[in-house]
Amino acid sequence: MKAVILYDSRTKSGSTEAIIDIMGLKLAENGAYVEKAKCKALADYSFLNAFDLVILGAPVYYFLVSSQLLGALNYGNLKKNLQKKKVALFLTCGSPESMATVLYLPQLKIHLVRNKILVEKIFPSDVLSDNAIIDSFVLDVLYEYNKTLKSRILSAKWTVEAQEWLESVPVFLQGKIKEGAEEFAEEMGYKEITCEMLEAAKGKFGG
Ligand SMILES: Cc1cc2nc3c(=O)[nH]c(=O)nc-3n(C[C@H](O)[C@H](O)[C@H](O)COP(=O)(O)O)c2cc1C
Repeated sequence: MKAVILYDSRTKSGSTEAIIDIMGLKLAENGAYVEKAKCKALADYSFLNAFDLVILGAPVYYFLVSSQLLGALNYGNLKKNLQKKKVALFLTCGSPESMATVLYLPQLKIHLVRNKILVEKIFPSDVLSDNAIIDSFVLDVLYEYNKTLKSRILSAKWTVEAQEWLESVPVFLQGKIKEGAEEFAEEMGYKEITCEMLEAAKGKFGG
């Protein structure tokens, strides 16, 4: 799975960047390929096509979510390139969670009404140094992401042999292969995912 953390902050090496680095490590530890990218309002966001999951995050300054991220959603092509993407959101702020949920999160969510938001999280200043809370956010995101893959299970059933083969490949590849195989079965109208079908579908998910 390829994830990108798209973030904004006015502060170089500030608290937002610090938690992003922790998120990145946790994602990588769990088998994801991960990149981080800093928002510019008028950047071209077509590169998001290459990613399965987009984690959007920013601090709040003077009651507004940081301006480059909001600008990219309002005036750039970010919103367009987020269509059909699985998205998770987080904010860093000085306010308590209850206040941020009402005042700040909607500033992002209003632009994402068509997206599947896997998890949203506020990180108030007092939890920013708590790695366990940041790790738990990442695990929640991965859990919800994997659930979306499972919910794609269509009429095609995995034979015992095909399931055993899937379990024999490295864990970090399993989600992608499963998704590719089920898509292939759907396209081809197969009712069963067999080892032979996986062989035929190899090209689809990179051999
Ligand atoms: C100039 C400034 C204005 C801020 N305004 C708000 C605010 O209106 N509401 C809030 O909850 N937090 C506010 N904060 C707190 C920041 O959102 C919080 O410290 C955040 O973690 C900063 O992220 P950074 O280190 O990446 O810049 C403000 C912080 C600064 C420095």
